[in-house]
Amino acid sequence: MIFNKGNVLFLFLFILIGTMCTVKEQYTLVLGKIPFPKDNPDSPEKRAFGKLLFFDKRLSKNNEVSCASCHQPSKAFTDGLPKSRGVRGSIAMRNAPSLLNSAYFSSYMYDGEVKTLEQQVLVPIQDHREMGSSMKEVLQKLSKDSNYKRLAKQIFQRELDAYVVTRALSTYERSLISQNSRFDQYRAGAKSILNADEIAGWKLFSEKLYCTKCHSGANFTNYQVVSNGLYSDYGIDQGRYRINGLEKEKGAFKVPSLRNVSLTAPYMHDGSIQTLREVISHYSKGGSRFPNKSSIIKPFKLNNLEINQLELFLKTLVDTSTVN
Ligand code: HEC
Ligand code: HEC
Repeated sequence: MIFNKGNVLFLFLFILIGTMCTVKEQYTLVLGKIPFPKDNPDSPEKRAFGKLLFFDKRLSKNNEVSCASCHQPSKAFTDGLPKSRGVRGSIAMRNAPSLLNSAYFSSYMYDGEVKTLEQQVLVPIQDHREMGSSMKEVLQKLSKDSNYKRLAKQIFQRELDAYVVTRALSTYERSLISQNSRFDQYRAGAKSILNADEIAGWKLFSEKLYCTKCHSGANFTNYQVVSNGLYSDYGIDQGRYRINGLEKEKGAFKVPSLRNVSLTAPYMHDGSIQTLREVISHYSKGGSRFPNKSSIIKPFKLNNLEINQLELFLKTLVDTSTVN
């Protein structure tokens, strides 16, 4: 093989086109390997321990609620309420998001402010409207459990402490995967699994309208924190503005995943929209007039058939294998 100019150029183009193809594949394709962090590797025992903790009400004040009270498996790890209910009947600030595929998220919470699942665990435990407790109080209770003490020793080689609780819980959360919806099967080559209306809905979503500008990739989100113009005045919850007090972040919320969206009603950060048809109507009106509203959101006209098709497509994203 001679490295003359022509050959080198050919080789270069070959590699370039090759990489472009793989990048595109990754973008559109299924989720890929679960990204377990190096300092918290996966193991079946750790997942099982995390699952026990996830369903354990002792993580809250007066043992009233567990993580699973607000993140119920049968509702794709949401709770069906506009805003979740925590200890002593208090109302949480927001709507509970699904935890499916949260292993892949680049940030957590509607503000996109929390960077790892390990860190996130502390938030609900301490929030007085959610679990209303503290890690210290939780550890005092859990340390009396001889099974938990044994598991901590066996899996982490240490006493039951905050390290153990946060690592076990986040390992369980990373195991909550949803990638077998009818739409996934369609993308994987089972072309006859969707009917003509559902495919037409996907075309509306991805080509005719602008939805994939934000709801893109394998989880139908680009993880950006933006305003979709839900309100002209966001009232008490101004979104990411509460983190840094930046005017331009008023009304900005993390783009939610749309996987299993037919199980996660009501919608938006405050659960203010009941149905998918009403969500579609919100976008078709171009949202509310709001200075920070993303310039992508513009009014559009769909006829009744097209509205149905878009809704039918959104419903193909449900993966019932994960809800049991
Ligand atoms: C009282 C109801 C409630 C309880 C209990 C609760 N959560 Fe949540 N969870 C929520 C709400 C509401 C949000 C959204 C909060 C926000 O964005 O500000 C949330 C957000 C999350 C997120 C971020 C998801 C995303 O898409 O960004 C994770 C992860 C999470 N919760 C895990 C847990 C774990 C683990 C526990 C138990 C230790 C727990 N939750 C307990 C209601 C609850
Ligand atoms: C500029 C980015 C952007 C575009 C474009 C966009 N969305 Fe959204 N979408 C968001 C954000 C941000 C939220 C959450 C807003 C909130 O909670 O206040 C959201 C929420 C949703 C929800 C509710 C999900 C849930 O679990 O609460 C649905 C459904 C949805 N969008 C569908 C669509 C459809 C259909 C289109 C195309 C017509 C679209 N979106 C276009 C940013 C966008």
